[in-house]
Amino acid sequence: MKILITGGAGFVGSHLADRLISEGHEITVIDDLSTGRYSNVEHLEGNSSFRLIIETVLNQTLMEELIREADRVYHMASAVGVRLIMEQPVKTIETIFHGTDVVLSRCARYRKRVLIPSTSEVYGKGYSVPFREEDDLLTGATDKHRWAYACAKTLDEFLALAHFKETRLPVVVARLFNTVGPRQTGQYGMVVPRFVQAAMKNEPIEVHGDGTQSRCFGHVADVVDGLVKTLETPACFGQVINFGSDTEVSINDLAKRAIELTGSSSEIRYISYDEVYGEGFEDMQRRVPSLEKAGRLLGYKPTRTLDDIINDVAEEFRAEAPASKHAQNQ
Ligand SMILES: NC(=O)c1ccc[n+]([C@@H]2O[C@H](COP(=O)([O-])OP(=O)(O)OC[C@H]3O[C@@H](n4cnc5c(N)ncnc54)[C@H](O)[C@@H]3O)[C@@H](O)[C@H]2O)c1
Repeated sequence: MKILITGGAGFVGSHLADRLISEGHEITVIDDLSTGRYSNVEHLEGNSSFRLIIETVLNQTLMEELIREADRVYHMASAVGVRLIMEQPVKTIETIFHGTDVVLSRCARYRKRVLIPSTSEVYGKGYSVPFREEDDLLTGATDKHRWAYACAKTLDEFLALAHFKETRLPVVVARLFNTVGPRQTGQYGMVVPRFVQAAMKNEPIEVHGDGTQSRCFGHVADVVDGLVKTLETPACFGQVINFGSDTEVSINDLAKRAIELTGSSSEIRYISYDEVYGEGFEDMQRRVPSLEKAGRLLGYKPTRTLDDIINDVAEEFRAEAPASKHAQNQ
């Protein structure tokens, strides 16, 4: 099949590209390299089944052509990461909403199967875990910029489901909970690569807040497996489905585990949210998905542990940097 991956030079998108190429598909990636990296797909260049186009998904003429010729569309392009959202709120909203509108309108025109990733952020300040897909969504005031990401993604969801309702567009909305693994960059505030990298350099690990907040970290390989299955499962069309892991870990414990597994001598340092993101930043204490729906529709069950994730991320950093910079006793 011909498969279009927008944002395919990003973290999740590049793993999708690897997976789908290994299954014998022809892959086109369109990515403006705003948060993605050429190095994520460099190894695929030269493969006759792979094509990279460095351009924005907001180029409607090009998107029209790419979607018309594709059999499947994975729309992974998005402004991503809390830090980016706090620093560039206009770009965040525009990229997320306009980009998804361009993709969905063309997929509707040419009747293409399309995956729209959303995020656990849409559950906002909900406190009753595990979060189920049909739960109410509870976000904050519009002067708190972090909620712009959740609301723009929520609007993407509404638009996707509206296309399904009006014309039965074969679209799936995947709500990704923290998805981690090799190639994710710590640059935009992602916690696992930040912690592992600091631990490997024996530098202080910076925990935002008091570290009692918890998250569930899913390995990108498990999540990609689930995403690929959705577009081949018509029962998923018109559905919103959580993906990730439902094993909870506090940020303190994550830092300690990163230190243990890398044999690091790093200390843990605490920094207030205000200091990192400016005054009035709101964070959630817990975020746990219900994976019941993904399990029921797809047999989805994460198989990789937090230790697998930390080890895989550490291995990537080890391969990238000179051995002398890394912690001893690994
Ligand atoms: N990784 C996670 O934990 C997580 C959690 C929730 C949701 N998601 C969603 O999964 C998707 C992929 O996220 P990711 O973690 O791989 O992030 P990423 O930043 O690595 O990937 C996004 C990619 O989109 C590209 N991009 C951004 N704007 C673009 C534009 N206008 N045109 C073309 N390309 C553009 C970036 O360069 C990047 O390569 C996003 O929709 C994100 O919201 C990810």
